Amino acid sequence: MNSLTATAPLRVAIPKASLRLTMRSNPSVVAMTGLRCGSSTLGINYHPQTHTKRFISTTQKQQIKEFFPPLKAPHVKEVETAWVHPVYTEEQMKQITVAHRDAKLWADWIALGTVRVLRWGMDLVTGYRHPPPGKEHDAKFQMTEQAWLRRFVFLESVAGVPGMVGGMLRHLRSLRRMKRDNGWIETLLEEAYNERMHLLTFLKVAEPGWFMRLMVLGAQGVFFNGFFLAYLMSPRICHRFVGYLEEEAVITYTRAIKDIENGKLPHWEKLEAPEIAVQYWKMPEGQRTMRDLLLYVRADEAKHREVNHTLGNLNHETDPNPYAAKYKDPSKPHPDKGIDNLKAVGWEREEVV
Ligand SMILES: [Fe+2]
Ligand SMILES: [Fe+2]
Repeated sequence: MNSLTATAPLRVAIPKASLRLTMRSNPSVVAMTGLRCGSSTLGINYHPQTHTKRFISTTQKQQIKEFFPPLKAPHVKEVETAWVHPVYTEEQMKQITVAHRDAKLWADWIALGTVRVLRWGMDLVTGYRHPPPGKEHDAKFQMTEQAWLRRFVFLESVAGVPGMVGGMLRHLRSLRRMKRDNGWIETLLEEAYNERMHLLTFLKVAEPGWFMRLMVLGAQGVFFNGFFLAYLMSPRICHRFVGYLEEEAVITYTRAIKDIENGKLPHWEKLEAPEIAVQYWKMPEGQRTMRDLLLYVRADEAKHREVNHTLGNLNHETDPNPYAAKYKDPSKPHPDKGIDNLKAVGWEREEVV
């Protein structure tokens, strides 16, 4: 019997749940969170307590909930990805800051305005209220672990769309026009993959209920088609739009990290990152808490912010993708996949082409 069947959940399902927190039945955690008889909007999966060793670590498995069953193919050990994530150090990740690229052209204003409208809608759907400066401690702006997860899941389910649409359209354009793509497709698809990994990671911690699934379905239907049409009309505006969207994502994760550091999310202080995250980001031993996980995710978002603002500065018809380029003078700083040379507002065209 594999570990999944051995730990089959006994679900206390409550129909109104839009997102269910899940955890192994570590009694200390249940007692600590009070979730056993907590909010009426929560359904909770309980599992027999297990203290087995983790697959690639000596750390004990504690509060990890497996939503996705292990591979059922008897001859396959695992499925490898072509997009191996670069290693980030803690020092690098702590350097990430909230930043904003000023809107300069009318196209920038369209992108920024659209992000603001979408942000308003996303706040509404996910029940999020961002506190104005000085009001961070007001009760009405406080977020719980569930509320953060609801926002993360919704945010990431939308964030995985633009890279795939952009990559797909550039792929089709290359086929149709019989022209080279100059390296953009891979970076765009990799971004979509990275966002999907964010989503899968959070889905290891929380299981969305029917309402959230419905919201995601509706948002994807509208957003995919809207972005598809917009990318056909102006890839430049679309990359700028994603750059501004990623600025918002950095703000969101920065606030969540601060909430953990300020003791506002006690259930996450000891909660380990899911195994999928440990493997994907190659999280080192001793740096696998939820805070560490959010540092990784935030760094990724900051990278997307840079990449998309940079792509928004380029000529999408003729310029090579600087993240795939090999430069004649490698001694000068250039964009790469890491976060060492990160430019929050993107690289200007004359710097990289
Ligand atoms: Fe993301
Ligand atoms: Fe992102």
